[in-house]
Amino acid sequence: MEIWALLGLAVILAVGGLLGYYLLVVTEGVYLGRRMVVWLYDITAHKYDGIKEFEPEFEEFFLIRPLLAHLKAIPAPRILDVATGTGRLPYALLAYPTFHGRVTGLDASAKMLQHAGSKLRPYGWRAAFVQQVAGRLPFADNSFDAVTCLEALEFFPAPDGALVEMARVLKPGGTLLVTRRKGAWGKAFPDRYRNVAQFENYMQTFGLEDVYTVPWLQDYDQVYGRKPRSVVSSQWSIVSDQ
Ligand SMILES: C[S@@+](CC[C@H](N)C(=O)[O-])C[C@H]1O[C@@H](n2cnc3c(N)ncnc32)[C@H](O)[C@@H]1O
Repeated sequence: MEIWALLGLAVILAVGGLLGYYLLVVTEGVYLGRRMVVWLYDITAHKYDGIKEFEPEFEEFFLIRPLLAHLKAIPAPRILDVATGTGRLPYALLAYPTFHGRVTGLDASAKMLQHAGSKLRPYGWRAAFVQQVAGRLPFADNSFDAVTCLEALEFFPAPDGALVEMARVLKPGGTLLVTRRKGAWGKAFPDRYRNVAQFENYMQTFGLEDVYTVPWLQDYDQVYGRKPRSVVSSQWSIVSDQ
């Protein structure tokens, strides 16, 4: 009898451990609610850059140059980075010599933003940070030349609402860059996983055009889209480039 009780306990512990690993590590708290996601980032913020080990040359070549190619007609672009974390994209952009614009980084985690703020301090007013959730962007319609959101969409409680907001604050003709989680870990988010074609169609449902995918990291593709220059849309009321 005792052996069966011990075996039962072992099974319960193993299943509980696997479930905890799935909920806290693999899917980073998303199925436990936004507060859990943000809390996990708050308590790990000090380790984030060390874990990610971003390579400046790699960031410049595969992220910054392709993004700026979309903005070459704009002398000083205004960019919003949603879920900016420790300021990965603002940091790489502002270090790039021909970038003369400014970047706003938004994130729900105060601790991630503290690290971003310290790293970007030398750039003064050209880098600003806002603590806010992605589903309620505190900016007027048509404010930014580009909106980016890297390695984060799958962690939002309502990715659709966040994408509507990102499209709303983009200027007509502006560029949206988001990432598609892929691979085995991408499929661990069963309600959020989309293959390349499905993700591109998904982006188009937000009224974006010229949507295309660029393979990037082992776990992520970059996906670009553009807000139409002139559109009558129920999503954004009436906008135009006039
Ligand atoms: C994997 S990190 C990506 C950070 C950065 N974009 C990068 O590429 O290094 C995910 C970020 O999303 C933020 N985040 C998660 N849920 C959020 C939400 N609902 N609103 C805003 N930020 C959120 C987290 O705080 C975290 O900084």
